[in-house]
Amino acid sequence: MSNYHIKHLEEYYQVYRKSVRNPELFWEEVAEEHFLWRKKWDNVLSWDFKKPEIKWFEGAKLNITENCIDRHLTTRANKTAILFEPNNPNEPAQHITYKQLHERVGKFANVLKSKGIGKGDRVCIYLPMIPELAVALLACARIGAIHSVVFAGFSATALSTRINDCDAKMVITSDGSYRGDKSIDLKGIVDDALKSCPGVQSVLVVNRTNRTIQMKDGRDVWLQPLLDEADTNCEPEIMDAEDPLFILYTSGSTGMPKGMMHSTAGYMVYTAYTFKNVFQYKEEDIYWCTADIGWITGHSYIVYGPLANGATTVMFEGVPSYPDFGRFWEVVEKHKVTQFYTAPTAIRALAKQGMEFIEKHDLSSLKVLGTVGEPINEEAWHWYNDNVGKKKSPIVDTWWQTETGGIMITPIPFATPTKPTYATLPFIGIQPALMDEQGNEIKGNQVDGRLCIKFPWPSIARTIWGNHQRYKDTYFSAFENMYFTGDGALRDEVGYYRITGRVDDVIIVSGHNLGTAPIEDAINEHPAVSESAIVGFPHDVKGFALYGYVTLKETGESRDHDNLRKEINQVITEHIGPIAKLDKIQFTSGLPKTRSGKIMRRILRKIACKETDNLGDTSTLLNPEVVQEIMDNAL
Ligand code: WT7
Repeated sequence: MSNYHIKHLEEYYQVYRKSVRNPELFWEEVAEEHFLWRKKWDNVLSWDFKKPEIKWFEGAKLNITENCIDRHLTTRANKTAILFEPNNPNEPAQHITYKQLHERVGKFANVLKSKGIGKGDRVCIYLPMIPELAVALLACARIGAIHSVVFAGFSATALSTRINDCDAKMVITSDGSYRGDKSIDLKGIVDDALKSCPGVQSVLVVNRTNRTIQMKDGRDVWLQPLLDEADTNCEPEIMDAEDPLFILYTSGSTGMPKGMMHSTAGYMVYTAYTFKNVFQYKEEDIYWCTADIGWITGHSYIVYGPLANGATTVMFEGVPSYPDFGRFWEVVEKHKVTQFYTAPTAIRALAKQGMEFIEKHDLSSLKVLGTVGEPINEEAWHWYNDNVGKKKSPIVDTWWQTETGGIMITPIPFATPTKPTYATLPFIGIQPALMDEQGNEIKGNQVDGRLCIKFPWPSIARTIWGNHQRYKDTYFSAFENMYFTGDGALRDEVGYYRITGRVDDVIIVSGHNLGTAPIEDAINEHPAVSESAIVGFPHDVKGFALYGYVTLKETGESRDHDNLRKEINQVITEHIGPIAKLDKIQFTSGLPKTRSGKIMRRILRKIACKETDNLGDTSTLLNPEVVQEIMDNAL
């Protein structure tokens, strides 16, 4: 029996039950049937959430790139592995076959070796969304070096912090990058960052934009001449199952970013298995995830998961608004994309634009739509479903985290009936629990609580690089014997989960627990509203009251603000109840967002609480300029 590809709800429940009754047997079967091992494991799982220590497939030996590339060469040598769509629509797309990918990774890996990089060394990758980025990840994995990708939109300070935290010896970057009509001086940012990174011995530079840059003697080298000289064949380093594969930084609610460390075998098995099932990938499909490889979504669902399945994965260099807001749909039509995976923030931005951008493109190739990164509000869900999916492509609302490595709660297309704003059911092998504040599990349905996971899954991050204590404190200390996600969730009458937002964003108003997401959802239903964010501020009687920041659609901009405020509270009253009405509503031209599209509530909370002398680190904001505007007009 193959349990690799789930086709209907009955089968989901069957496989799910099996996976939680005997997880070890279940994952052992998946691992045995679908991957290439140099040596099989001695032990499927050992774990202790108290220490915490988690090991999957201990004793096994493998190389993930053999699984992502070499083993496809017999059947898929000439199939496109990576389909590169450049920023400029007039520049031809590149189809990199599995055979070509094998050669490019081999050459790149040999260059790394020639520069003194070996197993266990950390390599920082700071590249735009060009094929070299994916190839660089795989080249590191080929020789057992640990990659640490830093999103190429981060500042020099953010980059240097991350380089130093993991003592990277090498940085891989490019001269510049293209984003829409902008060309960015990436190498200049690296030069700035490296002023405070004494441990970096070499910098490999990809030529992308032909811009004039400084090359530091003895440190910086152009990549291409080295590749031209290099041998295409690079024998894979044989890794232990638990050897580190990569570090990826994610921001915590306080302090330094956390270097989440993922290990090899479990990550491979889980990302491959989820990719296959969540996107129902079939051999001829063209799969496109619009994320950047600088985030976990790109690691797991542009590179490793798709390639482990021998899929064709699209890599898009550009932005959704260039040359116009029809670009996503143009690319879908051009490459006949079958699975499309994006973020709610992108959906909302596109929904704000006229329908002509979408109507002129043929989207009939699409079969499955995905969303990830934040709760998707009802309005955006329907827009996506009606206009992109034409009501025939199921939407997979996939809940997961940098820390989880792979998708955790999600519908399985054509098997799980979808429900707007619900991530629905736990993926195979995932055992969620909702906890109350006293630390008790809340059983049954129609309940809400803090979302925890009771049992390890193969791709859980194994530690925070260099700070295991923080790993323990952040994820395993709030609830005994549980991984704590930091999110709140509710479970409806049929057992579907809806993620209500970070619990650090929960606001208690007059003793009532209010998640920000449902209130924002309600506000966003108002026809004049584009986006909103709710925070709490101290209130004499209620404990906390609600402050809403609201951006308007063009149609709303001319409206009288006091009337709009009344209407918004009316909508909230209708959707949630008068308890959730906002005390203050500030209209603003934008909301401060991180580069991954998350609203930075920390800043909004401080402004609402009038604690503006120390706003904390705003360096990771996409639009720092709105902060001043919001402060100037604060209520
Ligand atoms: C946090 C993790 C996983 C890749 C991108 C984000 C929120 C993520 C959903 C979803 C509601 C979601 C959670 C989670 N989140 N997906 N489908 N519905 N919330 O990774 O930066 O590590 O963020 O994003 O709050 O904890 P990340």
